[in-house]
Amino acid sequence: MKPDIELKSSKIYIKNGIISEAGMLIKSEYPDAKVLIVSDYTVAGLYLEALKESLDVSSVPYDTMLFNDGEKTKTLSNIEALCEKAADNEMNRGDVILALGGGVIGDLAGFAAAVFLRGIKFIALPTTLLAQVDSSVGGKTGVNLKQGKNLVGSFYKADHVLIDPETLKTLNDREFQCGMAEVIKYGCIWDDELFARLESLKTRAVVMSQIKSIVKTCCEIKAEIVCQDEYDRSLRMILNFGHTIGHAIENTIGYGEISHGQAVAIGMVKITKGAEKKGLTEVGTAERIEQLLKQFGLATEMEGYDRAKIMRAIVIDKKNIGKHMNLILLKHIGQAEIIIMSSREMEAYL
Ligand code: NAD
Ligand code: GLY
Repeated sequence: MKPDIELKSSKIYIKNGIISEAGMLIKSEYPDAKVLIVSDYTVAGLYLEALKESLDVSSVPYDTMLFNDGEKTKTLSNIEALCEKAADNEMNRGDVILALGGGVIGDLAGFAAAVFLRGIKFIALPTTLLAQVDSSVGGKTGVNLKQGKNLVGSFYKADHVLIDPETLKTLNDREFQCGMAEVIKYGCIWDDELFARLESLKTRAVVMSQIKSIVKTCCEIKAEIVCQDEYDRSLRMILNFGHTIGHAIENTIGYGEISHGQAVAIGMVKITKGAEKKGLTEVGTAERIEQLLKQFGLATEMEGYDRAKIMRAIVIDKKNIGKHMNLILLKHIGQAEIIIMSSREMEAYL
C-alpha cells in the first residue's frame, strides 16, 4: 500500500475503510509481529470487531487492552499497566502497539510504545477529527500529571498512521466541532485557500462529503511544519495558535468542562482581536475567523471569565521561557508569526 504522506520515517495513509486493511498492512510490514491493541470502551464498541476481523484474516496475533474514555486515562499508572501487559505478552522491539481511538488513546499508547523496551513499533488508527488532523501526526506522545496536562512525554512518531475518515461518522457534534477548530486553525496559520474553502462549506454534512481531502490537506500542512521543526523549537510553535489562551481557559474552567477545540476557538479570536488593535494583524481577520467558527457551532467568546486566573495559568504554561512567552499571531489569514513578549504585554490581549 502506498502512503498518501510521508513524514520522515512515518507513513500516513488516508482511506475509507482502511481499518479493514490493517491486518494486511501489518502482515506485510512486520510478518512475525504480535499486536497489542489499545482503545477506549466507546471506540472499542464501535470499531474493535472490524479491526480484530482484519487481524484474524491476516493471521496476525493480538491482545487487547481497553481504558475508560477521557483525559483521566492519560496517567503514568496506565503507562505502567500497558507496559506490564506488553511484558506479559513477551513483546519484543519488532512487535506493535496499535492505538485505536482519539488523541487520549494515541498519546497514551504512543508513549507506552516509546518507553517499553526503549521503543517498539507503533501504529496509530485515529478515530476523532482532532486525532486525524493533528495528534496522530508528528510524534508528540505523553500523559498528564496532577500538576498539569502533557507534562511527561516523548517525541515518538507512529511508524504508520492509518486514517479512516469513515469513522468520523459516529462522532458526536461536540467532538466534531472540536476537530473543526483545529482544521480552521490550519487555514489561519498556513493556508488561506483552505480557509476560504471552509467558508464555503456550510454544514457538517458538506464537510463530510469532502472529508478525505480536507484531512489530507491538514496532515500535509502538519507534516511540512514538523519536517522543518520536529522538536518544537521554532516553526512548530505556530501550531499553538489560539492555544496559549485556550489552554489557560481549559485549565481555569476545568478539563472536560469545556472542550479543547472550544477553548482554542475562543483563544484564536481573542488573540487576533488584540493583535488587530495593535496593528499587528490585518484588520478584518478576527471577524472572518469568528464567522467561520460560528458556522461550525463553536462559540467565540466566553462570559464572566476570571481574567486574573487565566493570566496565572498563562504565566505557568510549560512553553514559557523565563518571564517571556512565545505568542502566535497572524499577519493575515494563512500566515502566522511567532512574537516573544512578556506576560505584562500578554495581559493586554485578554
Ligand atoms: P478523546 O480521545 O478523548 O476522544 C473524545 C471522545 O470521542 C471519547 O469519548 C472517545 O471515546 C470518543 N470517540 C473517539 N472516536 C470516536 C468515533 N469515531 N466515534 C464516536 N466516538 C468516538 O479526544 P480527542 O479530542 O481525540 O483528543 C484529545 C487529546 O489529544 C488530549 O489529551 C490532548 O492533549 C491530545 N492532543 C495531542 C496532540 C499531539 O500532538 N499528541 C495534539 C492535540 C491534542
Ligand atoms: N499539536 C501541536 C503539535 O503537534 O505540535
